[in-house]
Amino acid sequence: MCGIVGFVGSEQAAPILLDGLERLEYRGYDSAGIAVISDDKKIIVKKAKGRLNVLRDMINGGKSIAGTIGIGHTRWATHGEPNDINAHPHLSGDGKIAVVHNGIIENYVELRDFLISQGYTFKSETDTEVVAQLIAFYYAECGNALEAVFRVLRRIEGAYALGILCIDEPEHFIAARKDAPLLIGYGEGCNFIASDVTAIIKHTRDVSYMEDGEVAVISADKVQFYNAMEQPIEKAHNTIDWDVSAAEKGGYAHFMLKEIMEQPEAIRKTAFSRIRDNRIVFEDLKFTAEQIKDVSRIFIIACGSSYHVGVVGKYNLERLMRKPVEVCLASEFRYCDPLVDDKSLVIVISQSGETLDTMAALREAKARGAYILSIVNVVGSSIARESDDVLYTWAGPEIAVATTKAYSTQLILLDMLGLYFADALGKVSKDQYDDIIEQILCLPDKMEQMLEDIEDIKHFASNYFNQNSVFFIGRNLDYAMGLEGSLKLKEISYIHSEAYASGELKHGTISLIEDGTLVIALGTYEPLFDKAMSNVVEVQARGADVLALTIENNVAEMKKTVENVISVPETHTILQPSLGVVPLQLFAYYVALLRGCDIDKPRNLAKSVTVE
Ligand code: M6R
Repeated sequence: MCGIVGFVGSEQAAPILLDGLERLEYRGYDSAGIAVISDDKKIIVKKAKGRLNVLRDMINGGKSIAGTIGIGHTRWATHGEPNDINAHPHLSGDGKIAVVHNGIIENYVELRDFLISQGYTFKSETDTEVVAQLIAFYYAECGNALEAVFRVLRRIEGAYALGILCIDEPEHFIAARKDAPLLIGYGEGCNFIASDVTAIIKHTRDVSYMEDGEVAVISADKVQFYNAMEQPIEKAHNTIDWDVSAAEKGGYAHFMLKEIMEQPEAIRKTAFSRIRDNRIVFEDLKFTAEQIKDVSRIFIIACGSSYHVGVVGKYNLERLMRKPVEVCLASEFRYCDPLVDDKSLVIVISQSGETLDTMAALREAKARGAYILSIVNVVGSSIARESDDVLYTWAGPEIAVATTKAYSTQLILLDMLGLYFADALGKVSKDQYDDIIEQILCLPDKMEQMLEDIEDIKHFASNYFNQNSVFFIGRNLDYAMGLEGSLKLKEISYIHSEAYASGELKHGTISLIEDGTLVIALGTYEPLFDKAMSNVVEVQARGADVLALTIENNVAEMKKTVENVISVPETHTILQPSLGVVPLQLFAYYVALLRGCDIDKPRNLAKSVTVE
């Protein structure tokens, strides 16, 4: 959840670190800090609670710290409240070692007790300070930073990406990784580490991804890797195929709006590249169409919005394939003794590819013999690397914490996977297949048409931005889409919101509807439009103020009952959520804008959740 960047070269480190942290701030933003080895051989640590600007101002944009090697961190608090002291980097008591850390050290209490028994004292409440002190402890014994790090890694349990400076070794720094992302970037006469490539993409697109257990010693002209056995190894280089503009706002007020607008193109990249002569071609898939015949059950595992994609997927895949599909929250799946076996296909969905619960669920399913096919946006991420098969969503970097284009590309890819397998199983007719493909090919244009005319949505947002509580109701795919609409609204506008299957309302929730309660009635799922209408009437009878969403053909019918209606272009039924979700994203965005919220960095959240 936090962000790490490190630099060594001939330029001043502090401004480069600040710039990298700015690009990482979406991963955690309750405090930030940097440590630089100064020209007079001291480790200077500067850190501050709050957004990066506080730190930037404190050190005059980096100008007040001279030195060409350093590490930086932006934090999402786990151990200890967000304050100056708990912010990273953490310095050992003797001032020789500085550490930045993402992840959680599970046995830190025991290690801390050990160090206290050795006379060490602690300033912060963090697990990371324990790592810094433990390295200092071993460094005092062996006088070699790498050896001290190896010794520490043998003792610590948990997840970590670490950047480590040692005062006596100012020509290099050390990086280590286990269950938290970390990569090395190769520059001209300089080198970097980063928890996310966005931090360094301005400087280089030439990177190596560290694997679990690996350690690297990074100097300006060389990077030496070691495997988990502590033996020197060579690593392959990877080239990042997008450039810095993809990670910048490009004139938009927020990344979220930019990413909403990028959805048509993201769908084209993700879907069209896999359709040839009107047939789905998954060249990147090892799992054969034949193998699907032996699968007894499909599990879709994910968290948050990716889970919501899975809920749409359950409806669509079962409908298309006529095989049982279970959609599971990753955080629950891993502890429920799941009935997964070697006849199961597990589809893991994750934008970041680093979500810890999703990763743990993947490992659980793998250990039980399931085949793991993941749908991931970040190339080379942990989930991608541990899966048997990966389908990448080509959404490009997604910076806003609230996902939009990753959601849309996950959705289209899952629908296509369902159609591909259904075809292999002989469960769809040629006409059905052709119809869905034709509609997929029209989807981005229809989405563009919607994005060109958003005045209605801005108007509805201005009508409703003062609401305290909102309900999204719908049936079947509308219910699944409502889950995402509701999450978008609550995470960025802080309005309490719930998504309910319309038929469930009268089993309890309808008691919450009173005069003026906003109910967003989703009626885009054509087969159940009439039933959706009866639920609209029910909530109106209890005083609800209804804002409805329906397909163009049903707008007139809907308007007989509801004054405020958003119209969505029609597509194949199974694809309708891909279009319906767009006004819900925009509604959330404009409501949050009018409420003055920090849209790209909502409170208490981080882009990638790498803790349990
Ligand atoms: O990176 P992942 O897709 O695994 O992330 C899962 C959730 O944390 C994520 O979808 C979250 O719910 C969204 N940021 C919400 O907009």
